[in-house]
Amino acid sequence: MLAVDGISVYHGDAQALDEVSLTVDEGAIVAIVGANGAGKTSLIRTIAGMHRPASGRITFQGNEIAGLPSHQVCNLGIGQVAEGRQIFPSLSVSENLDMGAMLPRARGARERNRQRVLAMFPKLAERLAQAAGTLSGGEQQMLAIGRCLMGEPRLVMFDEPSLGLAPTIVHDVLKTIRDLNAEGITCVLVEQNVAVSLKIASRAYVLENGRITLSGTGAELLADARVRQAYLGI
Ligand SMILES: Nc1ncnc2c1ncn2[C@@H]1O[C@H](COP(=O)(O)OP(=O)(O)O)[C@@H](O)[C@H]1O
Ligand SMILES: [Mg+2]
Repeated sequence: MLAVDGISVYHGDAQALDEVSLTVDEGAIVAIVGANGAGKTSLIRTIAGMHRPASGRITFQGNEIAGLPSHQVCNLGIGQVAEGRQIFPSLSVSENLDMGAMLPRARGARERNRQRVLAMFPKLAERLAQAAGTLSGGEQQMLAIGRCLMGEPRLVMFDEPSLGLAPTIVHDVLKTIRDLNAEGITCVLVEQNVAVSLKIASRAYVLENGRITLSGTGAELLADARVRQAYLGI
């Protein structure tokens, strides 16, 4: 579905990604594991069209997307739940959801998508008129996911979706990702809870200093001594 082929990305003079290649099969959950500063967010943002790679190719369902502006990438069906949630705090829950439905691909299906999102997150349905900034952290993350779903994505990239959330909510967020995947949405997951993310991942990549150093099935990486020592502390 998605193929990243040898992309290098710089922030000014600093190289964030060095010839990174990976593939995401339709229907998969692909985990990206790496320490702070490894380049995970840079990778997601590059796929999303927010950074232009200096070299390499990115193809999504056969379309070359590297260098396309982010609204065009979104409109092809690549959604993103960004690090830090990025909801609009002074807008209502309902208005935040509407912002996700502005893509041409999703405009016509706005009401259907809204019903689907509200069925998935009943808490949001109870708070439609409330300013998004007054929601709890977990509810804001649900709203960020709901807003992304309003754009009718085929692939969703989650960047640290459980960061800063209480442990019980972390479980809910990861269950939501599994449920979306079961409904047919392909997922790329960057998650600080490495053990959990590898458990739900069909495929996983380790990113170190901007390079992919290891890849395999989630189960293979979970059993790998290097991964266990570096990311699981066991
Ligand atoms: N906008 C930016 N300008 C300059 N450097 C950046 C920028 N974004 C990220 N970096 C640097 O690029 C490297 C990779 O960062 P990032 O992709 O955020 O890593 P991760 O998400 O794995 O923590 C880090 O060294 C970071 O400091
Ligand atoms: Mg990051």
